[in-house]
Parts: sequence; structure tokens; C-alpha cells
Amino acid sequence: MHRRGFLAAGLATVLAGPRALAQMKMDDRSNMDSMPGMDMGDHSGHDMGAMGQGPVSLPEGQPLRELPLLANEAGRPGLFRARLTAAPATARFTADQDTPILAYNGTSPGPLIEAYEGDRVEITFFNRIEGEPSTIHWHGMPVPADQDGNPMDPVAAGADRVYAFDLPEGSAGTYWYHPHPHGRTAEQVYRGLAGAFVIKAKTDPVPAAYGDTALMFTDLRLAADGSMPDNTMIDMMNGRVGDHVLVNGQKNPKLAVAVGAKRRLRLYNATNARFLRLAFANASMTVIGSDGGLLEAPVAADEILLSPAERVELVVAFDRPGSATLTTLPYDRGWMGPGRPTDAGLTLLTVGVSETPAEAMPPLPERLRPIAPLGTPGVSRRLVLTEAMTMNAASMGMDFLINGKTFDMGRVDIIARAGDTELWEIVNQADMDHPFHIHGTQFQVVERERDGKVAKPPYLAWKDTVNVARGETVRLLTRQERPGARMYHCHILEHEQLGMMGIVDVQA
Ligand code: C2O
Ligand code: CU
Ligand code: CU
Repeated sequence: MHRRGFLAAGLATVLAGPRALAQMKMDDRSNMDSMPGMDMGDHSGHDMGAMGQGPVSLPEGQPLRELPLLANEAGRPGLFRARLTAAPATARFTADQDTPILAYNGTSPGPLIEAYEGDRVEITFFNRIEGEPSTIHWHGMPVPADQDGNPMDPVAAGADRVYAFDLPEGSAGTYWYHPHPHGRTAEQVYRGLAGAFVIKAKTDPVPAAYGDTALMFTDLRLAADGSMPDNTMIDMMNGRVGDHVLVNGQKNPKLAVAVGAKRRLRLYNATNARFLRLAFANASMTVIGSDGGLLEAPVAADEILLSPAERVELVVAFDRPGSATLTTLPYDRGWMGPGRPTDAGLTLLTVGVSETPAEAMPPLPERLRPIAPLGTPGVSRRLVLTEAMTMNAASMGMDFLINGKTFDMGRVDIIARAGDTELWEIVNQADMDHPFHIHGTQFQVVERERDGKVAKPPYLAWKDTVNVARGETVRLLTRQERPGARMYHCHILEHEQLGMMGIVDVQA
């Protein structure tokens, strides 16, 4: 069969229903993406990104835009008070087209929130998204359950509410915020709603001379008319992957540093579903922190896998003049059907390293802070992740399951006790990697098992999201300190929408 005809038929099959999907699933390693020159755009009505006429190209090499800071209106120490409005806006990704997006306070990514350990935070949220409920979820942060923007607490279109919480001592770290309304999280996030939230320590062991720069990765798909296409069935199955990875809203922006400089960078994977295996050419990376703050000691790294929703804090040393680039390496996270995105060889950021030497940089301390192990669990639980074909049209042919169930807002899946340490064993029996996230707390990964081989993580770290690869089991220790209902879910947001989420009710 002619390739083009075969592929078009392939997509028609995908659209035909569950049985066909089962077939696609069996065929998912057939590597259709490697065939050049196909054009499925007009045939399917779906934008197939790099597979189609080729994505709209975006300007590159503009100076890196720092995320705008959310202004603190409190006017007294110890309190952070501000307003965040989610509303339609437009963005200029190309020279001549406006793209309708959703934005917090008019910008995407949203404003950077910087507050200190011990601060009280009061943020008034205005939902100005027409006809859609929304919430603000404080991803990874230790906030009370009823302030955490859960799907059970929607803010109606046109309404507002105050989110109020205290930032405990020891909570310094690299968090973020995004909407979490039932069934609409994926779309509100890919249309632009996500922002960084940095809790700063009162005393920080990392030298201030390194600066502190947030780099938020998002994933953009633009149609020829400048709009963002809706999710297709392929997007729902795999999670939406766009055509352009952006850093702070820009494609491959440029940062200038002097040779010998060290920079503290906070990397956020705020994409719906793109796995980023990252490396720095011509610069050396040291990991100093994870989702929930600093490690005990710095760890040199040649590459980093950042799955959706994960964050990492780095110190990057620029010791050679010239150009240092942050690029992506190949990573196979499992893909169903056509349209597997190009994941290797993307340049995300270009750092121009000048010949003029930087002022002498103070060294990074050998110890950053202690991390107490969570200790012996009193309870252990097993959560099995699977994918299944379904006849339910609302699921677009696929369900994503935890212990055989899809999410039900009216059901409690796990009852836990505040202050108890639990062992959670996350077993991935599905064909794709699933980045697993728990709300309201930071956990510690204790081991990974694959094909009967058990490996301990190389260092202790506070995490709220961990990738569970296909066929892998991840064991983690978790403890919830505050009572209330908490979500746990896959952070491929389309999978969360198609059911891979549950509720743990934490009792006092
Ligand atoms: Cu980013 Cu339910 O979370
Ligand atoms: Cu979360
Ligand atoms: Cu998933």
C-alpha cells in the first residue's frame, strides 16, 4: 500500500472505535512517525503537528524573558497578598498573528510568585474564563485541603474566592500553580494557565551570586491561522504534545553570561505530556534540588529526565566561552498510534558565554541541608496503573485506570491518617510511562523495581511527582500532615481527565 494511503487508513481506523484502538495499541511500535512527507491534516481535520505541512515556525534567539513577578500588595512583612485573574488573552508567538490563549493576569506562563517560609499567603482568585469553572491548585505545596483548588471546590465562571494558607518552616522549594477543574484541567493548562511559585528559605546555603532564574517549559501547538487546535483522540490517548517547547513563553531564547559564571536555574516541566530528557552542551550541571526543595548535597549530572510536572533545581557552571545549549535527548515513554513527536535534538535555550571572565564565584557548599528519612511505614498500599479500551464515548475510546477504576469525585479510594507514614507501591502495567503525583505533601522514593531488579535512588529527595516507567514499580514513602481529601493522579493531564486519578481522604 502507498504510505500515504496506509496512514490515512490508519487514522480512520483510530477514529473507528475501541476494537480498532486495540489494533492500534498492538501496532504502536510501528513507528509511523518516521515516514516522511505525509499529510494527514486535511484528511482528518486534526493538526498532526510535525507530521503535517510542518508546524508554523516561531522566532528564536530573543533575550530570555524573566517571568514577571506577582506584586505583593500586603505592605507588611510576613504576609503575601495578591490577586490572580484567569481570563482570555492573546499572545504573539509569530510576527503577524495573535493567538487566543488563557492567561493569569494577562501573561502565560503566569506571574512568578515569590514568598518566604513562614509567610501567610492570601490570594484572591477571579475566574473570568467564559462559561468554565476553574480553580487554582498549588502543586506540591503543603496547603490545607480546602485551599488546594481541588476539583471538588470549583470557582464558577465570573466568581472569585480567596485562597489562604501559611508556608511552614522548611517548605522552601520549587512549586507551581495551575487550574484543576473537573474534566477541564488539561485544556485550561495547554491554553496557557500555569505559573511558578517559589518558596524561599530565610537562610539559603546557595550563594546569591548565582542568581535565581525560573525556566518554565510549556508546549505549544499552533494551527496555520494562529489558533491552538483542540485535543484530538491521539492527544487524549498519549497526552497532548505540541510542536514547540517554549521556555518562559519563548522558543529557544538566549541568555548571556560571562565565562566562569555559575547560575542557579529552576526548571519546571509545565507541559501536559512532554517528557524532557535534558542535557547541557558546553556547561556542567549540578543538581541541588528536586520538587520540594534542596537535596542534602549537590550531585553532578550529565542529563536529567524531567517528566510532566516535575521540577529540578540546578547550578550550571559556564566554564567555556562560546555557546552552551540546553537540548533534549531521545526518550521513549510509550506512544499509541501515529504522531509520535520528535523528542530528541530540540534546543530549548542558548546561553552565550562571553570571553570576559565573571567576577569570582563563591563555591557551592558541600552540604545543603539535612533531609530526615520518613522512616518505617505502618501501612502499605498498592496502586496498579492500567489502560483499557472502552465503549464509553466520553472517554474517546480509552480509560486510564488505578486499581481497575476511573476517577469518581464522589468516591473515596483510600483512607489515611494524618501524620502516619505509608508505603505506596505504584505498579505500572500500562504501555506508557505515567508520572505519578500526590497532592498536599512531599514524598520520598525508596526504590524502583523492573524485571525483578530492585534499585535504590542515588540520593534522598523530596518529590511530589515521580515518573513510573512502563513495566516499572516505584515504591515511595508518603505522609500527609493535614486532614482532608487529596488527589493523586497521573500528571499527563489527558490521562488524569480520562480517569487516572483517585482520592485519599486524610483523617485527623
Ligand atoms: Cu499539578 Cu493534581 O496537580
Ligand atoms: Cu498537585
Ligand atoms: Cu498517564
